[in-house]
Amino acid sequence: MLPTRSLTLRACSGRCFWLLFLETAVTTPADMDLGAARVFAVTLDGKAMAAMLRAQVKKDVDVLRQQGITVGLAVALIGDDPASQVYVRGKVKACQEVGIESTMQGLPATTTQAELVALVDLWNADPAVDGILVQLPLPKGIEQRAIIDRIDPSKDVDGFHPFNLGLLASGRPRLVACTPAGVMHMLKVYGQAYGWTPAGKRAVVLGRSITVGRPMSLLLTNADATVTVCHSRTPDLAGRVAEADVVIAAAGSPQLVKGAWIKPGAVVVDVGIHRSADGSLCGDVEYSTARLRAAALSPVPGGVGPMTIAQLMRNCVDAAAQRRGITFA
Ligand code: GUN
Repeated sequence: MLPTRSLTLRACSGRCFWLLFLETAVTTPADMDLGAARVFAVTLDGKAMAAMLRAQVKKDVDVLRQQGITVGLAVALIGDDPASQVYVRGKVKACQEVGIESTMQGLPATTTQAELVALVDLWNADPAVDGILVQLPLPKGIEQRAIIDRIDPSKDVDGFHPFNLGLLASGRPRLVACTPAGVMHMLKVYGQAYGWTPAGKRAVVLGRSITVGRPMSLLLTNADATVTVCHSRTPDLAGRVAEADVVIAAAGSPQLVKGAWIKPGAVVVDVGIHRSADGSLCGDVEYSTARLRAAALSPVPGGVGPMTIAQLMRNCVDAAAQRRGITFA
């Protein structure tokens, strides 16, 4: 006898959209003997959630425009890293779509620290610039930390400045790093549809970078989860993941997290993106096996990636509004 499939739709309303979660249950002959149906993980559809978020940002951009304010983002791309070029093109395109004015300054890999500092200072002083983003990684010879520290914290739409990280750590977030903020948004939308919350759950974050792992752990702590941060020196990674109700995989290692490690019913968000030998993309999680155990799982591609860019747009609009003391209804 062949496996039988059944589909269930679950809807979640945003401020401008409805988002549909598609649940797939498969009953195999062996399951039928037991009278059981194996439910695959709900897909955390980052493309659909990002579209919802961008639509709201576009409305807020229009609200500011009616008050004579044009939101402006300045982006610096130093060197010729192909991945960075793709990311920056995506950010500039997203700005066009939501009505944010973007300036992209490309500079050669030979750019000096002093030249980049001078550019940041120029943008810090420019009232038409609401957000400053220096694409990382920077070429050898430029000290990343010093550049991040030079950006005016009120224009730090990446949320990497120690002032903004400090606000997040003290439970008063202002501008928060785009990828972890996007992940929290995904968890919120999923939670609204399924009556789920990170509060009281055990969360494991793989990775401790200032771009993802560290702010992610702070956001989950602020949301009342009990958080464990794992990294390259953590013993028994499988054991730590197996205890987690929420897993955020941002280790930067292809398919590191095996499906067998995942606690049945866990919510799993995959932040990794890697090119496999056959040219396909994969994440930090072994998707094909993880979807048999997780309650919800983000795909790669189409998961966290689109959320990061949508959240950058959100941060630009928030930076523009915060600098002028404006709050949105
Ligand atoms: N490089 C990869 N991701 C990011 C990001 O979120 N911000 C910046 N500035 N550079 C990146």
